[in-house]
Amino acid sequence: MKKALITGANKGIGFETARQLLQHGYFVYLGSRDRQRGEQAAGQLRAEGYSQVEALHLDVTDSTCIAAARQALGQRTAVLDVLINNAGISGGYPQPALETPLHTFREVFNTNVFGAIEVTQAFCDLLRESSAPRIVNVSSGLGSLTLQNDPRWRFYAVKGGVYPASKTALNAYTIALAYELRETHFKVNAVCPGYVDTDFTDHLGDSSPSEAAARVLQAALLGPEGPSGQFFGQEVGTDRNPW
Ligand SMILES: NC(=O)c1ccc[n+]([C@@H]2O[C@H](COP(=O)([O-])OP(=O)(O)OC[C@H]3O[C@@H](n4cnc5c(N)ncnc54)[C@H](OP(=O)(O)O)[C@@H]3O)[C@@H](O)[C@H]2O)c1
Repeated sequence: MKKALITGANKGIGFETARQLLQHGYFVYLGSRDRQRGEQAAGQLRAEGYSQVEALHLDVTDSTCIAAARQALGQRTAVLDVLINNAGISGGYPQPALETPLHTFREVFNTNVFGAIEVTQAFCDLLRESSAPRIVNVSSGLGSLTLQNDPRWRFYAVKGGVYPASKTALNAYTIALAYELRETHFKVNAVCPGYVDTDFTDHLGDSSPSEAAARVLQAALLGPEGPSGQFFGQEVGTDRNPW
């Protein structure tokens, strides 16, 4: 049975991604920075009939917690097939480039960038044991330099100094990691889930968490011929991109 770890999976897109991976027969480790919220979410999925799910205490900004989570997971499995770096925060809007305090930049980068990097590094040895390891970094169209510079893009006016820059950094890390692993079976990609109806957007998004999770799953379930080092999203749909 294939095994997946999702960070920030106690609610929103991560939770929905867990449910869809369970539907595909995966065993899902549901990362949550709050133990109780993680147990509650895992309990909800079990109540829906999915038995192959377990909560894993994982605060992506806490090195000690990441190391403990890695050790705990290592006692349960020798192989991890999918890692989804989904945990993310916006830092609040507006976030003007000139006036937003540096501590907000640090807080957002700690979660969205350094958290994803540290989790990837910590769990990579387990992923290497998989015959088809997949890493999905949940990014944002706001992190695309191309879209951010295109006045025709529907979110062109949604500028911020912090969150978009954090996702741009995550995209760059995705490319570097995919390149480093290009001679292996790894596929490493970044996915924009869309503008999604979650707490993150105060439920203003026009995509459902289920539609968003389906986009994340496309990258998590890529076959051997699938791309690596790409950024996928609705708005980047071109000849180059499958979705
Ligand atoms: N919603 C959108 O429209 C949208 C668009 C583009 C990209 N995204 C990205 O999609 C991802 C998921 O967003 P969402 O809409 O599902 O947001 P959400 O409903 O707010 O969920 C975010 C999740 O991340 C967790 N989290 C935050 N900080 C964490 C930390 N330090 N360690 C571990 N988990 C942490 C949260 O845990 P708590 O419950 O404990 O707070 C929660 O489980 C994020 O990376 C976001 O940037 C979202």
